[in-house]
Parts: sequence; C-alpha cells; structure tokens
Amino acid sequence: MDSLTYHIITFGCQMNEADSDLMASLLERAGWRPSDSRDNADLILINTCSVREKPEHKVHSLLGELRPHKLARPRTVIAVAGCMAQREGDRLLRRAPHVDIVLGTRWFHHIDDLVARVRAGDRPIIALEMEEDPSSVRARNDLAQQPAPLRAFLPIIRGCSNFCSYCIVPYVRGREASRPVAEVVREVNGLVGRGTREVTLLGQNVLAYGRDLPDAPTFDHLLSRLDGIDGLWRIRFTTCHPRDVSDDLISALADLPSVCEHIHLPIQAGADRILAAMNRGYTTDRYLGIVGRLRNAVPGIAITTDIMVGFPGEAEEEFEESLRLYERIRFGGAFMFAYSPRPGTAAAEREDQIPRDIRLARLHKLIDLQNRITLARNHAGVGEEAEVLVDGPAQRGDGLLAGRARNNKQVIFPGPPSIAGSLVKVTLIEAHLWGFRGQLSE
Ligand code: 5AD
Ligand code: SF4
Repeated sequence: MDSLTYHIITFGCQMNEADSDLMASLLERAGWRPSDSRDNADLILINTCSVREKPEHKVHSLLGELRPHKLARPRTVIAVAGCMAQREGDRLLRRAPHVDIVLGTRWFHHIDDLVARVRAGDRPIIALEMEEDPSSVRARNDLAQQPAPLRAFLPIIRGCSNFCSYCIVPYVRGREASRPVAEVVREVNGLVGRGTREVTLLGQNVLAYGRDLPDAPTFDHLLSRLDGIDGLWRIRFTTCHPRDVSDDLISALADLPSVCEHIHLPIQAGADRILAAMNRGYTTDRYLGIVGRLRNAVPGIAITTDIMVGFPGEAEEEFEESLRLYERIRFGGAFMFAYSPRPGTAAAEREDQIPRDIRLARLHKLIDLQNRITLARNHAGVGEEAEVLVDGPAQRGDGLLAGRARNNKQVIFPGPPSIAGSLVKVTLIEAHLWGFRGQLSE
C-alpha cells in the first residue's frame, strides 16, 4: 500500500515553523510522507497564528475552501494546530465542523497519535490543556531527524508571562516554560553530530530563559555552554525583551566566538506614554542606553526590531516623536505592524482605538522611513568583506548561491554549488533592501 501523505500550511512566527517541522518528523516516523499539494493529501494540517487579525482571517477562509474538499474526500483528516486553535477551541469546530482535530499550543508533539485515532473513527478531537507532562515534550523533542539541517531552529522556552497590553500570546501560549540546559545541550550536540552548523534559539522572550527552572540558569549561561560545542559554528537567538538585557548578555555577545553579532530587540513604540500603556517596562531613555552599550561592546552588531503603530490613544505627535527616535537609533531592519485589536487583551477594551485608515497611513510612513534607513545602512556596508555561511543555490538566478553574514544579512553571489554548507569570505559589492550582491573574495 502507498504511504499516507500529509500537507502542512504554517502561519506566524519561527516558533510555529519549528513546531511544524517537528510535527512533520513525527508523522514521518509514523510512516507518513509529505505531499506538495493539499488536494490529494490524506492529512491537511494548518498551524495557525493569532498575533494579528489577518492570519486568523486567512485560516477561516482556508477552512471555508476545505469544506467541499472534505465532503468529496471524507477520509482526509483536517487538523488545526497552534495559537488560533488554542484561542478558539470548540468555537472553531462549530464554525467548521469538517475539522477533525483542534490541537493547542502544548499538544503539537502528539499529532501522530491523534491522527491515528481520527483515522480509526474517533473524531473530532480537541486537545487544549496547558498543563502537560514536560517529560513527554522532552522525549519527543529529541527525535532524530535524518539528516539534520545546516541551520536548525530550536525552541528553548515556550510561552510568555509578560502581558503586554496588546498581546494575545500569554493567553494562547501559556506561561514561560524553559527546557533544562542539559537537554538543550544534548539536542544541539545531536544536531551538530548530524551536520548542523548554526542554531537559532527560539522563544517569545529568550532572555526569560531559565527563571522557571529549579536552579534558575541564565540565558547567557546557556550561550556559554553551547559556545563550547565543537563543530557548532554559529549561534543566533530571537526574540529579546529589552527589559531583560543584562551586562552578562552583552558580554556573551561580545566574547563568545560562535554567538553572532545580531540582536532582535523589539522596541514596539518610541513614546514613553505609549510604552507605559503597552506595559513594556522600559522607557525610551533606557532603550537608548541599551543600544549604546551594545554598540560600544560589540563592534558591527546589527540591531533589528519590531515596531507597532496606531496603539490605542497614540497621538499624531507621539507617532512623529517615535519616528524621530527611530531616525536616531537607525535600526538595521524592522518588522513593522499596524496595531490589531485582539479580543481578551487589555488594549482591545480601550475606547480610544485609532481608526484603521490612520493606523495604515502611519504604517506606510514608518515603512518609508525604515526602508530608507535599512538601504542607507546596507550601502555603507558595500566594500566590506563578510563571513558567509552558504545555504546553497539562490532561489532565482543561475549559478548564484545564497547565504547569510554573521549579522544575518542575506548575501547572493556567484559560486560553485560544491561550497554549500561551508563558511566563505565574500566581498559585498551591491546593496539592496533585502541584503547584498557579493563576490567570493578569492
Ligand atoms: N497588533 C499588531 N502587532 C502586534 N504584535 C503583537 N501583538 C500585536 C497586535 N495586537 C507584533 C509585535 C510583536 C510581533 C511579533 O508582533 O510587534 O513583537
Ligand atoms: Fe503568532 Fe505569537 Fe503564536 Fe507565534 S506565538 S504563532 S507570533 S501568536
């Protein structure tokens, strides 16, 4: 008999991408094979995001499209996983009764068993409990993927305990839960043994790492442990709450050879009154201080950020003040968003919501400014030589390779496919918004 096939559609952050990869390997261990098209897959798995309205709308329309599909092919298993599954629970089933599995954010590692139950006739299944035996998560996270990717993404802490007033994440992903140091080190060792050369440590806030563990190991301690692993060339991490940046973290960035010179440090807003209303726990002064210390201690460090415009009550003058601050900081890059009210969060209850057209106008103004800054900074890098880890052939362009510099900038350059997976020196010759065109130094 042909093996069963699965098709995964992923929305949202890198954590979701990592969870989708893990679900894929669990399914493959159970004999399933990937399918490029959802039309003839035996399992359609949607891993969802709730951070803004838009990705939720996309999932609802996708589920609408799948209704006739399920009628025509009733054996197809339809599973909805992740943040939106957690948030909507059985409401999702009422709206889309053709869904077989609703899988919350702490249940993705049971996908193989749950799909088997549905195929045996037990449907629908809703798995949403937040308290889960962490040891089962561990056992399954250790699953060997053959071969390991050159660049691996590794969740080290799940959930968030911050409750920024706009954010749905603490409600859908639960409180902070870290994986023990020894377990992370063991997993990275395993990955490196199977070919991984770069790891990106993931968490809604990696700087909160360890606080919930018995001996409260710090994130910089974890970095120093991983830095000692032979054959691991690069360590990255994302994302970081500015309030938790410590001198020890800055020293780790400065001193540990494999820790890349890049930090993603979401600022969210550039006016103190808005930062306070967001419950962010820092002021613009404090943020500027951190940026100064980072740039002093770590030459060439790239600082990227997330920015939100149109938070409830944001005055035009506060928005302009924020732009002036971003012009001063000159981020290396930014993810930029218009505020999107999330039901159940404190900010969504406020009566001073900013009209959508104003939010979008501010967003476009911000994007224009940041694009100019990103491009100018990239232009300033032309002529420099960068150490590039070569991912492989570029998506477009014959004979071109793609890779990343230590500061995480993309570099595209001509070269032989045989150097994929190695570290090379590339001279940057042309700046773009997305990164650089370059040429091999020797
Ligand atoms: N509306 C718009 N953007 C949001 N983010 C988080 N919550 C919201 C929201 N309600 C943004 C923040 C965060 C990034 C992952 O998404 O900038 O850092
Ligand atoms: Fe989206 Fe946040 Fe959930 Fe990631 S953690 S999928 S960004 S809501």
